[in-house]
Amino acid sequence: MSKVLILSGAGISAESGISTFRDSNGLWEKHRIEDVCTAGCLDTNGEATKAFYDARRADIEEKLPNYAHKVIVKLKQKYPNEISVLTQNVDDLFEKAGIKENEIVHLHGFLRELRCRECEEVFNIGYKKQDECFNAQCPECGGELRPNIVFFGEAAPKYQILTQELNNCELIVIIGTSGNVLDVTYFAQLTSVSILNNLEPSEAIDDKYFTKVYYEKATQAIDVIAEDIEEFLITL
Ligand code: APR
Repeated sequence: MSKVLILSGAGISAESGISTFRDSNGLWEKHRIEDVCTAGCLDTNGEATKAFYDARRADIEEKLPNYAHKVIVKLKQKYPNEISVLTQNVDDLFEKAGIKENEIVHLHGFLRELRCRECEEVFNIGYKKQDECFNAQCPECGGELRPNIVFFGEAAPKYQILTQELNNCELIVIIGTSGNVLDVTYFAQLTSVSILNNLEPSEAIDDKYFTKVYYEKATQAIDVIAEDIEEFLITL
């Protein structure tokens, strides 16, 4: 567990051209969460759900990490034991910026993976369509495959890691999340120092609980946030 927890959301990938969910023109303006991201949709709306994630997987193939991803990856590699990187994002921009699989936690799953609905095995398929892989069945047990994404109403096993990190960190850095799913206002009250960076205030976040607040693009805020983190680490 680390003294610094960096937790990001869709906003950190916005400048790389990946849609957020709740900003204007966001994903949830074009698709109903009930149809493609809610427990049970694989059975009630299977083909459309598969097509939705196939399209999002294809969409990220050419996307590149932005300056904010790169600064965070550098910080993680400079302070491997002092900084934890957790993200709600299912894209691979931190990986493209050089982060290793064991240096990041994707709390809501990962677009490049499928998971077997029977044996729970996980398979990295890159940017391919689901049905182009393994004859559309689990290569281990023959079961049905699904996107390895956490839908609303489903268990999010990696939240156990988030809880452990929150119990240990003394500085939490929140970048690019509206707080509609994770209660980042509560998280800010668990640590002695907290930093919030969003494009604008969110109805789901009470920013008075944050030590520092930056309402600007992540690529513009990230250098001063990195300074804040390094200054904090020196005080430890
Ligand atoms: N720099 C910094 N912040 C930004 C930028 C940017 N360039 N662009 C947008 N933002 C901020 C917005 O101000 C907003 O607060 O990113 C946030 C995006 O909020 P959401 O679209 O709600 O995305 P997120 O908070 O990650 O959603 C959480 O909801 O649908 C589920 O599982 C999905 O992980 C997702 C979760």
